[in-house]
Amino acid sequence: MSELARSARPAIFDIQPYVPGKPIEEVQRELGISDVIKLASNENPLGPSPRALEALREWLPKAHLYPDGGATRLKERIALKVGVKPENVIVGNGSDELIKLVAEAFLNPGDEVVMADPSFSEYAFAALLLGARVKKVALLGERHDLKAMADAIGPRTKLVFICNPNNPTGTIVSAAEVREFMAAVPDEVLVVFDQAYEEYVTDPAYGGGLPYVLAGRRAVVLRTFSKIYGLAGLRVGYGIASPELLALVERAREPFNVNQAAQVAAAAALDDEEFVARSRELCARERERLATALAGRGFPVDPSQANFLFVDVGVDSAALFRRMLPLGVIIRSGDIFRRPTSIRVTVGTPEQNDRFLAALDTARRALLEEGERA
Ligand SMILES: Cc1ncc(COP(=O)(O)O)c(C=O)c1O
Repeated sequence: MSELARSARPAIFDIQPYVPGKPIEEVQRELGISDVIKLASNENPLGPSPRALEALREWLPKAHLYPDGGATRLKERIALKVGVKPENVIVGNGSDELIKLVAEAFLNPGDEVVMADPSFSEYAFAALLLGARVKKVALLGERHDLKAMADAIGPRTKLVFICNPNNPTGTIVSAAEVREFMAAVPDEVLVVFDQAYEEYVTDPAYGGGLPYVLAGRRAVVLRTFSKIYGLAGLRVGYGIASPELLALVERAREPFNVNQAAQVAAAAALDDEEFVARSRELCARERERLATALAGRGFPVDPSQANFLFVDVGVDSAALFRRMLPLGVIIRSGDIFRRPTSIRVTVGTPEQNDRFLAALDTARRALLEEGERA
């Protein structure tokens, strides 16, 4: 280890760098092809909310001014939408930032965080960065095993992350299951409900964390404008919790953490009910069609309530990912989730989904033939 590396905080070496979805431009440049679709990062295939775009255009001449550090208008809009007070709302540079801010406000070295496995990697990232320990509880039947997660809570457990729907499986836990779980969680443990994909849920049994925030439990609900509102590139997410809890988290926040373009666009997108409904309907319809097509090929598909599917395609998914790139289709291979024969694919437009299925068949066949020859 170099002298420079020895001078870094030990916690830095516990971090596995985040592997982002491969950008379209990179694939175009590397492979010299122009027609590339990305179904790797669960973005909205319909693009940004049109209302958000209009608001952005209007705002652009004011780009020389600093943002509203308190995000007053956006918080008011969110509060109205969710049915809480503006004091119950915090906004972040994506919900990613809010995960980190909650961790920064509460975690000491040696504290414990409980999360599902596989689930969203940012929870472990935030915990490890602060020198906390991560207890990962394996999914049961591809869903959060809430009983085992409650059992995993020990005297050093400060935070529990519930990713509902879960990334990468898209599976949900029900309101009744969450109720039972919360009854088993000690009052002093903070439960973070990450509901980034909630708008895509169609199953009425689904249950989020808002009732527990309203009931005064130590709970935070995280939501985002990156998915159904189509604003991933602007980076804005929000959290709902008690004013007392948020006052602590606010202490760790940078003064201008959410840029003004993001604030203006997000406030406008919240009112774009037509766009949200259209995005939700497209996802529900195509999710079903894609899942049926994949199951028809004999692949086990997790029952997703999000805008992506996690499917075991029975071949090395990293090799499959590489094979699909020259066909102009970017997906996520499951190796990063330690599921080496699974892939995660975002539900796209009907045309994109057809193209994905064709590319999957071609690439998979080529891999199997290659295997037979070897
Ligand atoms: C479960 C989950 N939570 C949070 C995020 C982060 O979203 P944001 O773009 O708001 O930072 C993602 C992004 O993919 C996610 O899958």
